[in-house]
Amino acid sequence: MNEEQRLQSGKLKPLTGSTQETGEKDYSKYFETVYTPPSLKEAKKRGKEEIKYHDDFKIDERFAGMGKGRKFYIRTYGCQMNEHDTEVMAGIFTSLGYEPTNTVQDADVILLNTCAIRENAENKVFGELGHLKPLKLERPDLLIGVCGCMSQEESVVNKILKTYDQVDMIFGTHNIHRLPNILHEAYMSKEMVIEVWSKEGDIIENLPKVRHGNIKAWVNIMYGCDKFCTYCIVPYTRGKERSRRPQDIIQEVRHLAAQGYKEIMLLGQNVNAYGKDFEDIDYRLGDLMDDLRTIDIPRIRFTTSHPRDFDDHLIEVLAKGGNLLDHIHLPVQSGSSDILKIMARKYSREHFLELVKKIKAAIPTVTLTTDIIVGFPNETEEQFEETLSLYKEVGFEMAYTYIYSPREGTPAAKMVDNIPMEVKKERLQRLNKLVNEMSAEAMKSYAGKVVKVLVEGESKKNPDVLAGYTEKNKLVNFKAPRDVIGQIVNVKITEAKTWSLDGEFIGVVEEDKVMS
Ligand code: SAH
Ligand code: SF4
Ligand code: F3S
Repeated sequence: MNEEQRLQSGKLKPLTGSTQETGEKDYSKYFETVYTPPSLKEAKKRGKEEIKYHDDFKIDERFAGMGKGRKFYIRTYGCQMNEHDTEVMAGIFTSLGYEPTNTVQDADVILLNTCAIRENAENKVFGELGHLKPLKLERPDLLIGVCGCMSQEESVVNKILKTYDQVDMIFGTHNIHRLPNILHEAYMSKEMVIEVWSKEGDIIENLPKVRHGNIKAWVNIMYGCDKFCTYCIVPYTRGKERSRRPQDIIQEVRHLAAQGYKEIMLLGQNVNAYGKDFEDIDYRLGDLMDDLRTIDIPRIRFTTSHPRDFDDHLIEVLAKGGNLLDHIHLPVQSGSSDILKIMARKYSREHFLELVKKIKAAIPTVTLTTDIIVGFPNETEEQFEETLSLYKEVGFEMAYTYIYSPREGTPAAKMVDNIPMEVKKERLQRLNKLVNEMSAEAMKSYAGKVVKVLVEGESKKNPDVLAGYTEKNKLVNFKAPRDVIGQIVNVKITEAKTWSLDGEFIGVVEEDKVMS
């Protein structure tokens, strides 16, 4: 069945109010509305389209009370950007009158906010959809939606259409603000509603948010990615790079500080490209950090940095310290210049080491962590060993490590690969062994020292113990009165483990870390 036939068969109910073109054909003559499936090709076609900023988001009156007496449940997969999108969707649900619930059994709407970065991330979602089927059969009024990065992939949408008829809605990463309309349509039609814009590039301010907790907060500084590393699906699923205006970010951080938040994580897929898209002002990540450091909030972090755009001004600003923490997550991906070249990372091993040298010279106490992919197509044993040697040379203290996973539509997926999976797995094990050893070594150096810990709550393993993170993001467990939760405290480290530290509570830190 082609798209037109599928539409006419009535299996798909197109959605009202969408403005995106569907391709060559205009289906609007069949329906009062337009069906918008994703297209990876469209997602890649991007130019200098003007970025539109909207700060007039409002929930349409006709949707008021839609959620009265209903509960929502969102399961989030993937990165912090997705977690933060979930906070926005929770905000929209709450504005519509829905209440949150922690169990799918209780929910009237279930959303899976998905991740497409590797095949196993996608398999988890398909597995979960399978588990939800009996619930849908039992309660046909239940709405099940798929959103997030997987919805941006044509192959996923086609697979859901073919195999998972328990799904009521699919919407993309550019369509989150349209959630009220999408829900409305799903209630009206009871047929699958699909709205996935392939290359919308707008920035929508003042969306409602229900944040997870009141100690740490995520703040988007930019969206999308234009780097197109050859293995990566993100530039297709998240659209072009676009930066929020500085005043909007500064205002949000100020507001969070006033509400008592203690730590801000600035988010973007490639935060070092922040501001590149501004045509009227010359204002980059270094400038933003320099402005943010004067705000009265104890800790500011950012993720993720791409080594290519990490400029000297940013290093200079980070070196001022204060609430700008001396921990930088700097994904290297590989230690081999040849592999980096075919990954299109646009830096070599030597450039990376040079950058690390500069950062260490400016911030001698810095802790570096990273992301690494092993088993990229045709990676040789020597090239893999270059990754091991680079890891040691830099002295990384932690790494997220992955076996390369081909992503349909990316250039690397077309590369013929002669490395057997067994070899890739064995390399991952060798790398992880080194990662563990170096983490344990870094942890050992804390024994007997006093560290500042932002207390987040009870330890996951023992409710009598509190847990929190140091400025360098090390997990610390210790016993203390519960009223220190949400505060920064001094803890003396008594025992270092591979991935965490145990310590004794000393007292609450009084000092004001903000520089002016
Ligand atoms: N924007 C970030 C990365 C976001 S994705 C950056 O460039 O650093 C997080 C990590 O997932 C990447 O750093 C990479 O190590 C890994 N990754 C991305 N695509 C992958 C793929 N196709 N297979 C395996 N790992 C992948
Ligand atoms: Fe993916 Fe590369 Fe963009 Fe990171 S910088 S999101 S790895 S394309
Ligand atoms: Fe996954 Fe999308 Fe984040 S692919 S890692 S959820 S940007």
